[in-house]
Amino acid sequence: MSLNQKKCVVSFEYETSIEPVTTQNATVEIDAGSTIVQAAYQAGVVIQQTCGGTPSCTDCKVKIVQGLNSNIAPPEGPETRLMGNVSHMTLERLACQAIILGDVSVYVPLYQRTKKQSSKLKRK
Ligand code: FES
Repeated sequence: MSLNQKKCVVSFEYETSIEPVTTQNATVEIDAGSTIVQAAYQAGVVIQQTCGGTPSCTDCKVKIVQGLNSNIAPPEGPETRLMGNVSHMTLERLACQAIILGDVSVYVPLYQRTKKQSSKLKRK
């Protein structure tokens, strides 16, 4: 069986509001070799992508709740350059770059929350 014939189940929990935090869930079955962004699109989950996946913005950062080490391809050059080589600690990957190899669970923060928290941190 080739990589493209293997089907993977991708489960999303995604934030829909930040005060208070609320989330919804979605699940999709997708071909192995697809990116998390492609899975999200099929599941109807919005992931911010300012750079369109060039990659350069890191706005598509998501947390891999299950399957990071076994079912997502390791980060390569462009992603490592942007995110460092610490995904094993942060559990974060760029959704536009992370290649799905098996079943995974993904947490998608609301983009505005990330920006809001970032600006609060900068002011401290
Ligand atoms: S969409 Fe910009 S880095 Fe992924």
